[in-house]
Amino acid sequence: MTSVGTQRAEETEPGREEMARRLLDSSETLSYDPIKEVDWETPLDTSYHGASPEWSTLYGTAYWAELTPEQQRELTRQEAASVASTGIWFEMILQQMVLRDFYAKDPTDPAFQWALTEIADECRHSIMFARGAAKLRAPAYRPRRLAVELGRFFKSTAKGEAAYAAILVAEEVLDVMQRDWMRDERVVPFVRTINNIHVVEESRHMKFAREETRERLKGAGWLRRQYNALVVAIASYFIVSSMVNPKVYANAGLDTRRAVREAKANEHHKAMLRSSCAGLMEFLHSAGLLTKASTWFYKRANLI
Ligand SMILES: [Fe+2]
Ligand SMILES: [Fe+2]
Repeated sequence: MTSVGTQRAEETEPGREEMARRLLDSSETLSYDPIKEVDWETPLDTSYHGASPEWSTLYGTAYWAELTPEQQRELTRQEAASVASTGIWFEMILQQMVLRDFYAKDPTDPAFQWALTEIADECRHSIMFARGAAKLRAPAYRPRRLAVELGRFFKSTAKGEAAYAAILVAEEVLDVMQRDWMRDERVVPFVRTINNIHVVEESRHMKFAREETRERLKGAGWLRRQYNALVVAIASYFIVSSMVNPKVYANAGLDTRRAVREAKANEHHKAMLRSSCAGLMEFLHSAGLLTKASTWFYKRANLI
């Protein structure tokens, strides 16, 4: 048994090392300093959206049709700021999990150096999102109390595949939205730059998260797979349901109760989420993380 395990480790280590080295090279060639790259100076032009309108939680509802174009744009700007703030929340969770994972490991290993590079990326991203949200004239949007407390527990305890698969889900969900926003000429230019930077740097993070998830799951038994699949699905549910804070509606001058009600029933928005997560769900399935119990949570989060 031991010899099989050792053999497997020897077979996979060069592949992992090679991947980490390639990620390091890529980040050396193409990384951004948002403080310099993003136009922070030009005052906010309110003739632009903050996100592609099709991604608004109200797009396609009766309420959306009643809004003036100005209100629609204010809403997508507040929604974009809320997504950025949720991004900060998750990036802080992620940085702590990765830092814990590599605690006292071999610093000569390229994966170790990659992990620190990723943490440094996330640190710049969070500052960028914070400034971006402020420029969109948004207040601090924080997840609801339960999500904050569960996140506090998760970031201090999650490890292995549970940590990396949850990281992957959060990064993938953000990625699909941001790819649309960065290309959209209706979106305010500085937000497009922010999204472009994030998409480029996150594509490396997602590669690493996918590889780590697969790697850590090697040899995992049925029970461990079931348990971690469920943990990841619950984490995903809280991440996705925290994306748009209900306070965005009042801040855009809307009636919160009506907006929340119509957003909850918005089939268009659910379909956007589902179709954008198809590739992610395929990966989770191939990794054996799409169990019956976890599928229930992904359905509730409208990811399946
Ligand atoms: Fe990030
Ligand atoms: Fe990331």
